[in-house]
Amino acid sequence: MLVFTTVAALRCYLRIGQLGGDRIERGVGLVPTMGALHAGHLTLIERARQQNAVVIVSIFVNPLQFGPTEDFQKYPRQLEPDRQLCEEAGVDAIFVPTAEEMGLGKKEKSKVKSQKSKERKFSLLRVPSQQSPVPTQVVPPESMTSVLCGRSRIGHFQGVATIVTKLLNLVQPTRAYFGQKDAQQLAIIRRLVADLNLSVEIVACPTVRESSGLALSSRNRYLTEREKEEASVLYRSLRQAERAFLTGERSSDELIAVTKLELARVPAIEPEYVELVDPTTLIPLDKIEEVGLLAIAARLGSTRLIDNILLRNRQPIVAIDGPAGAGKSTVARQVAQALGLLYLDTGAMYRSVTWLVLQSDIPIEDEPSIAEMVCKCEIELRMSDEPQAPVRVFLNSQEVTQAIRSLEVTSHVSAIAAQPAVRRQLVKQQQLWGEKGGIVVEGRDIGTHVFPDAELKIFLTASVQERAKRRQQELKSQGEADLSLEQMEQNLVLRDWKDSNRDVAPLQKAPDSIEILTDGLSVAEVTARIVSLYREKVDGH
Ligand code: PAJ
Repeated sequence: MLVFTTVAALRCYLRIGQLGGDRIERGVGLVPTMGALHAGHLTLIERARQQNAVVIVSIFVNPLQFGPTEDFQKYPRQLEPDRQLCEEAGVDAIFVPTAEEMGLGKKEKSKVKSQKSKERKFSLLRVPSQQSPVPTQVVPPESMTSVLCGRSRIGHFQGVATIVTKLLNLVQPTRAYFGQKDAQQLAIIRRLVADLNLSVEIVACPTVRESSGLALSSRNRYLTEREKEEASVLYRSLRQAERAFLTGERSSDELIAVTKLELARVPAIEPEYVELVDPTTLIPLDKIEEVGLLAIAARLGSTRLIDNILLRNRQPIVAIDGPAGAGKSTVARQVAQALGLLYLDTGAMYRSVTWLVLQSDIPIEDEPSIAEMVCKCEIELRMSDEPQAPVRVFLNSQEVTQAIRSLEVTSHVSAIAAQPAVRRQLVKQQQLWGEKGGIVVEGRDIGTHVFPDAELKIFLTASVQERAKRRQQELKSQGEADLSLEQMEQNLVLRDWKDSNRDVAPLQKAPDSIEILTDGLSVAEVTARIVSLYREKVDGH
């Protein structure tokens, strides 16, 4: 792993990097951080590692985003442990500039007074360098910075927007990774990228928590063990509001009241705000129509804590990921049936496209023409009247439920599914489906990539031995050639490796997923376990 401390060296590395075709195709991922890395940061890095050829982590405690009474001096700085964590996580390069190198002057702190601008768009503010050491800054719309944390952290989001813009300009990444934990920051950065026409995909990653529910944060190290326990009430209060929401409560006042009531159980916690806003615009909501961001900031002693939860007015999504042979599709079907949800049979979608390609004159390897065709086709899945029967599939209004199960389709489907453009298009269609919710989906990257905000994420797995045994029994029952258990195990190990390392949709375990090891469990037992997790998590009982 390389360590860059200067802009010039980083630029040079990136220019050389561009010569490699892989970097252009699979891209460069940037994870901006202020260091003192923890498991939350590591999930961003892991996600970036899975999606890009090159991963760059920036570590910079940005003076622009700290207020005069905030913890800039005290903020934890630990370069060596951070360097090691990045190295172990497979990061290609870390960028650790000084404030001076970032053009923020020798003085560690320099700040523009809060902007009075009511502008709706981002504006670039130029400050003459002779008169002041303050650099040009990026000013987000006031409507987004005057709510939530912006009310007490004057100038904070301007400092964040400025440094993130600088980092994005320097690295010019394909994707940049941010945590949902800092939901206001995420919304402002998304807006910044849109308003300033930056060509980067912003990838949001779910909040990583301790088992108590406490969201991980570099500032948690200021807390004593007792305070950590007290701090876990933030998430408990959000969950309490989520329960009320799931049982039909939509009013902002009521949801906020439920949250505050639970917070009040821990007197040491001093709430700064509890607000319900639109997660994209951050405009306060009176009630939740589609989705609301319920956010809290509170003080515990001298430490400021934040947390949030998204409340979606849709039926829940159950995402099941796992290695081949773990029984995902059988279990997913049965879970859907037990919960009255639709089994979103993604396999059937790939089969439909394959069938369509085979019907046309387009050769299997002609990716651009296939991509064009997929863009135009409409796949519809409908629950069958008979519970045991597979989902009914309609392609451009024609029923193809049986046709897509032919041997010819079976033998070509993996070649079609491996085409990135096909995958992109079908993921889009699946996500459209997800807007309504009420589905169970299985695959390799459903909980991380396709539906990162699924209400329940399961990682279904089984030992290689168990999976080999199951596969052997399955083949036997189909009267097919018998491989030895050993051969079967070897095949599975190879398949696991390929699935975790493939360019398109590698197998990924979401950090907020619940792992179920299915060794020794029947399909019915696994199904019952997931159904009860669903009831506990989604229905609240
Ligand atoms: P920092 O607090 O170091 O966080 C870096 C990234 O990690 C942010 O995107 C943050 O949302 C994410 N993160 C922090 N805790 C997390 C958790 N428990 N689960 C998931 N993600 C988590 O945020 C900043 O730094 C700075 O403002 C920065 C964007 C680097 C600009 O200076």
